[in-house]
Amino acid sequence: MGRDPIRFDFANAMEDAVGAEHGVAPAELDALAGRLEAGHRALAELRAAGHVAFYDLPNDAENIAAVKEVAAEAAGRFESAVVLGIGGSALGSLALRTAPPFLYNELPAERRAGPRLYVEDNVDPDHLTGLLKVVNPARTLFIVISKSGSTVETMSQLLLVRELLGGDLSRNVVAITDKAMGPLRQIADAECLASLVVPDGVGGRFSVLSPVGLLPAALMGIDIEEVLAGAVDADARCGSASPDENDAYRAAAIEYILYGKGHHLSVMMPYASALRDVADWYRQLWAESLGKTPEVGPTPIKALGVTDQHSQVQLYRDGPNDKVVCFLAVEEFENTVPIPPAWPDVDSLSYLGGHTFNELITAERVATTLALTDARRPNYTIRLRQATPYTVGQLLHMLEVKTAISGQLYGVNAFDQPGVEAGKVLAYGLMGRPGYEAARRWVDEKQAGKPVPPVQDMIDGLNG
Ligand code: PA5
Repeated sequence: MGRDPIRFDFANAMEDAVGAEHGVAPAELDALAGRLEAGHRALAELRAAGHVAFYDLPNDAENIAAVKEVAAEAAGRFESAVVLGIGGSALGSLALRTAPPFLYNELPAERRAGPRLYVEDNVDPDHLTGLLKVVNPARTLFIVISKSGSTVETMSQLLLVRELLGGDLSRNVVAITDKAMGPLRQIADAECLASLVVPDGVGGRFSVLSPVGLLPAALMGIDIEEVLAGAVDADARCGSASPDENDAYRAAAIEYILYGKGHHLSVMMPYASALRDVADWYRQLWAESLGKTPEVGPTPIKALGVTDQHSQVQLYRDGPNDKVVCFLAVEEFENTVPIPPAWPDVDSLSYLGGHTFNELITAERVATTLALTDARRPNYTIRLRQATPYTVGQLLHMLEVKTAISGQLYGVNAFDQPGVEAGKVLAYGLMGRPGYEAARRWVDEKQAGKPVPPVQDMIDGLNG
């Protein structure tokens, strides 16, 4: 049940559907074959050298066993679990939160598979205060996730939690971090905390199928074996460099060709609330991986069908023709909800009775797709028969592969984030971190309107 391959339908991105100016010609795809081949080889080399280890996470038996062990030890002990993390250390746990019933946190404990789950990926003092009013720290498992182990937001949250727990983290905190490096690893070892590893060669935004995403999912009763089985099968579908045989590469190539035709905005629009956070996760994956130079960088946008039909679709259909829309379609929902008949004399309502909400959401997706195609707006659809852990595992892995090969096509390093580092360093300076005095001076001088060197030069000076 639910183990169907996800399917890609690219027809509405092709020139036959939307015209040559805004669509892709088969010959344009053929012309990219050599680039895809070279990118494929480069990624295979990086993978073999252990630099892009996300590909191998679904088969990482050691980490999977460790996640299950920690989840089993936590079982029944906590009312709530709170992820302390940000960026790639937070969004994966939200993306995987697709299988449990909606409003999971609101359900009574006996109808939940595990503790309520909160992902605290901000340092807003009012939000933190609000969270601490609804969770009892003593009955909460805090999952602190940071690959570097020093991210200012996450580590500040850990300091707050430590205080709330009276200084003893041992019963209530699990750390997920590098196996050997960084302050969080140091703390975890010194305080004998349960801990899991972000494997070497796995960057934050590619870590969803590592303990980073899997532990919160396992705590909520999501079948992580199924998620990983989906990813393993997806990886097998991505073995070829040919866009005829590899849908992740075909999606990347189509968006790349359309980027060259002025389609610089990349919209992901799931028609299923279960996949809403997948679009959020993907937005970070795409932006942080590909936004590296002033010359190129597709901007990701997240939308939700049908909600954003009444917010965004006007712009997508009639505004600048600079977008590619990727629809995520779920064909069978877990529940069927009839629309009850009433008011037979009101023609504008009576036709609805006897249909279902399932038919309605599908009709709205099909209608939006057709309306965009008719206006020559390129779009494509990824179809999941059902949103299950297996199909979501496939989807996440194929989107990661799509992003990796896109880095090769755009000629950027998809696996670093120097722009984020600049903000981190300046924040360290402002908060008085030892060793970052030059960053503080740089900020003070900049704010005083004095001439300063480019921020990267200042950072290189710190590191050098
Ligand atoms: O994708 C990334 O690498 C980033 O978004 C990081 O996940 C984010 O900056 C948090 O870093 P860390 O996990 O080191 O705390």
